[in-house]
Amino acid sequence: MIAGNWKMNKTASEGVALVKELIPRVRGLEGVDVAVCPPATALYPVGRELAGAAIALGAQDVFWAESGAFTGMISPVMLKDLGCTYVIVGHSERRGRFGKPDESLSEEARRVFGDTDDSVNLKVKAAFKHDLVPIMCCGETLPEREAERTDDVVAGQVRAGLEGLTAEQVAGMVIAYEPVWAIGTGRACEAPEANRVCGLIRQTVKEAFGDAAAERVRIQYGGSVTDANAHELLSQHEIDGALVGGASLEASKFGVIVQAASVIAKELLK
Ligand code: PGA
Repeated sequence: MIAGNWKMNKTASEGVALVKELIPRVRGLEGVDVAVCPPATALYPVGRELAGAAIALGAQDVFWAESGAFTGMISPVMLKDLGCTYVIVGHSERRGRFGKPDESLSEEARRVFGDTDDSVNLKVKAAFKHDLVPIMCCGETLPEREAERTDDVVAGQVRAGLEGLTAEQVAGMVIAYEPVWAIGTGRACEAPEANRVCGLIRQTVKEAFGDAAAERVRIQYGGSVTDANAHELLSQHEIDGALVGGASLEASKFGVIVQAASVIAKELLK
């Protein structure tokens, strides 16, 4: 499963132009689910452009309430109504600036705007309640990796984010391993290490939800995935897809990544 996270890029009209270019590049590719996650302002026109194409629509975040006095927030009902299939939850850029609380913000502001394991869990549950598939992100910062805390941090985020879900729900969702130090840096995690941590995520799912959920949950790697490294990363046994930021902004690069996934899926199905 390949998803493009456009982040705060592309106006509505630029987004439409991008998917117009992308649609023919991924047409007919088998064995891979594809989604684009434009900013909220572009969801409606991009979704309309995607009608009939094999590319699903995803949002970049969701609030957990269905409606009410939450100025600026977007509810799962609204996303569903726009035709979203997926929603990214707990991206490190929303858990605080680059995965850790931004110290320059007041505590109040951090409490309201910075996702925590608790708010991620609320959002994941809200997504399921409204039939959206969550792409839940997790990943360690560089200081956490250097302190050899990667496994604890990632397993902790996974356990907390999935708290209270059913095995069936977990089986149907997507978890993205996104080491914070690899995001937007051009420095992707080495494929064997990305594979190891994705395996750890699967093991964590297995312990909490059983074998079937662990087998079926789709685990993506994200962080500086490009058309050049996608094949190697996606060939790893524990990696079922990629969450792509920068390279999803160019139809040619994103198209090559989707093609790589399709080639690998076909090899696996042989
Ligand atoms: P990147 O972003 O591909 O630009 O590193 C990935 C992400 O944050 O999802």
